[in-house]
Amino acid sequence: MRFLVIVGSQRKGNGFQAGSIMIEEARRCGATANLIFLGTQQLDFCQGVCHHQCHPRDDKGYLLPGGWQHCTREDDGARILKSMVEADVLVLISPVLFGNMSSNLKILMERTNALCSFDQEKDFSFLAGKIGGAVAIGGARHGGQERVLSDMMHYFAIVQMMPLGLGEYQAPQGLALVADGLGDLGHDQWVDYGIKQADAKRYLIAYTKKLLGYHPSV
Ligand SMILES: Cc1cc2nc3c(=O)[nH]c(=O)nc-3n(C[C@H](O)[C@H](O)[C@H](O)COP(=O)(O)O)c2cc1C
Repeated sequence: MRFLVIVGSQRKGNGFQAGSIMIEEARRCGATANLIFLGTQQLDFCQGVCHHQCHPRDDKGYLLPGGWQHCTREDDGARILKSMVEADVLVLISPVLFGNMSSNLKILMERTNALCSFDQEKDFSFLAGKIGGAVAIGGARHGGQERVLSDMMHYFAIVQMMPLGLGEYQAPQGLALVADGLGDLGHDQWVDYGIKQADAKRYLIAYTKKLLGYHPSV
């Protein structure tokens, strides 16, 4: 089982900490787990001008793998996209920035254009069937986490992945965390649908297990 966490933060702060907790637990459960921190990656915009280039096809017109290697952008994108294709479980973590996901995570989503074709009859996604997890961290209690989570879940649906929340009433569409300053996550300021404060680490561990197919017992 390959477990990949992508952290869409610019600083090694709360998102990185949350991702590290998930990676540690995934490894403890026997998964091969890796974290990609977008803050140190060079990732340029998808220009959308070279569709034929990143969408190689066979003689029947069906999408062939490896298109991500042919992107005209010479940056870290190809390596990140390859890691996404190789993963079984993909977790996206984003800070809430002005009520939305981070721009570098959004740029990555657009770069996954190279992993999908949206042709009516020959549509295909190299991310199809993978399990998707979502974590949003905002500094405010109602800072936009829910919106970011639903945008991530919407993305998973577009690329034909299988979105998975923690379940029950705890986090049906992924984890919404409240943390602002560096290390705030360690203070366990976790919002459970606005009602109770809980232990962020405990929920991140439970979510990791759920994504890996275990039954959480939080
Ligand atoms: C430019 C900027 C905009 C932000 N906008 C919001 C916001 O709209 N809602 C919110 O709850 N927090 C907002 N925050 C707070 C961050 O979401 C919070 O500090 C988070 O922990 C950052 O994650 P990181 O430590 O992984 O970078 C903003 C922070 C920055 C720097």
